[in-house]
This record gives sequence, C-alpha cells and structure tokens, in this order.
Amino acid sequence: MDVKEIERLVKISKERPLMPETYIPWHEEPQPDNIFLPALLTSLQGLAIYDTLTPAQKLELGRHELVQVIFSYGWGECMFCLFMTRHMLTLQPDNVEHKFLIRELIEELRHQEMFTQVISKLGGSPLPQTRMHKFFGMFSNKYLPADYLFMGSVSVELVTDIYGNYVRKNPQVYTVLRKMFDLHTIEEARHIIFTKSLLAEYSAKAGYIKRTMYSYVILMNIYFIRTMYVKKEIYERIGIKDADIVYKLAYNNYKKKFSENCLKDIIKFIDEWKGFNRATRWAWRWLLDAKV
Ligand SMILES: [Fe+2]
Ligand SMILES: [Fe+2]
Repeated sequence: MDVKEIERLVKISKERPLMPETYIPWHEEPQPDNIFLPALLTSLQGLAIYDTLTPAQKLELGRHELVQVIFSYGWGECMFCLFMTRHMLTLQPDNVEHKFLIRELIEELRHQEMFTQVISKLGGSPLPQTRMHKFFGMFSNKYLPADYLFMGSVSVELVTDIYGNYVRKNPQVYTVLRKMFDLHTIEEARHIIFTKSLLAEYSAKAGYIKRTMYSYVILMNIYFIRTMYVKKEIYERIGIKDADIVYKLAYNNYKKKFSENCLKDIIKFIDEWKGFNRATRWAWRWLLDAKV
C-alpha cells in the first residue's frame, strides 16, 4: 500500500471535513419543478406504463425509490462499519491502515446520519430488507475474510458513485439531494482510493481460484444492492393497479438499465485483475446482464 498517499488522505479527512450539518442547506424545501431521482434511474422509465403515469405519480415514484436507494446505502454502510470496527482490533493503532479506517468509520457514521435525516426530510418510509438480504448481509459480514469484505465494499462504492453522479449533474434534482450526493461522492472517492490501494496487493497475489471468488463476492454485492430498490409496495403506494405484473416488468427493465448505466467502472476494476473468466463470466451475464 502507498503509505504516503494514504497519509495524505487521512490529512485531508481531518483538515477538510465535510459536515452534513453545514454542507447541506437543510432549510431549503423542494421547488415545484424539482424532482427526487432522474427518470433514467427509476425502475419504470423505459416501460410503456411509465408514459401513462401522471406527473404527480412520476414524482412520487422518484421520491419513494430515492428513499429506498439511500436507505439501502445506509444499511450497507452500517454493515461495513461493523466489519471495520472488528478489523481495526487486529491492527496496531500506529498502522496507516488503522489510521485511515478510523477516518472512514467517522465519515460513514456521518453519512448514515445524513441519509436518515434526508429520508425524514422527504417524509420517506423505507421498506425493510428482505430476510434473504439480511441473512446474506450478516453472514458474509461475519464470516468472510477481510480482503473479500473490502472487495465487496469497493464494488458498492463504485456503483453508488455512478448513481451519485447522475443525481449531482441534474439541476432539476432537489438541492438537498444534490448536496448530499456531492458530499458523499467526495468522501467516497477517498475510500475508493484507499481500498483499491489495499486490494492491489491482494489481487496481485491471487491465483485463478481466488480471483474467481473475489469476482463472485463482488457480483453478489452488486446483485444485492440492485435488488433492494425495485419494490412492488412502491407501485401500490403510487396507485398503480396490477402492481404484481408491473413489478415483474420493472424488475427486468431495471436490470437492463442498471447494466447499461451503472456497471462500467466496476467491470473495468474487475478486468484490471482478471476477475472475468470461464467460471465467472456466465454468472455476471445471467444475474446482472453484464456485457462481459
Ligand atoms: Fe458513505
Ligand atoms: Fe465508503
């Protein structure tokens, strides 16, 4: 790991912290022409039913799905904090990895508080994770070795980064959300640099089997993130009839869009250490519709 570079990141984190309390203009309310999620990222855009929705329904769809997105981030980050805390106990406090993880933990806790505050600002009521999500989340968090968990975290960060960029660059999105994603993207960029640098050693040493396992861990993490968004209950909330049928259509629609819009960086990352091979490629195509 590049010790000097990591120390530089720790320094930035200490000297230029971005505090959600002051960075986000919490007093600003949504304007009449604001949206909460770019249409491209909603699960229904691209389907014929989307064009039959009223503007109010489209707005509500974006609000509920955005809430679901940040609720899932918060959950994933909380899970990662659990791991980081345990992992830090195995390191010496003067170790650069330990120093960085303390900063990352502080920032991730601030993010979770910020996400919760945004959810309440939007009057959101997120739907809880399914039992399967909870089981796999807790299981992998507890039993996977550190390198696998870091692989999982960087993959989720790379995907959320792309998501954040779509929101930040769209001036129609409610200011509070744009600032929230601004803050998040800036701080996550440091986490990504750190984790990639940490993982460079692991992946350089990894043989075929280990690279295959890394690839699967990343695949499952992303698959989980993706499936936490599309919810039948949201369609019921916005008054769509036949929510069951719409759910099935939306599931495939979102799978396709997610593959087109959100996987580029992660595919590049996995390619760097040859994580696509005969044993993994088919699963990426099957579960995520990835063009690999
Ligand atoms: Fe975060
Ligand atoms: Fe992070």
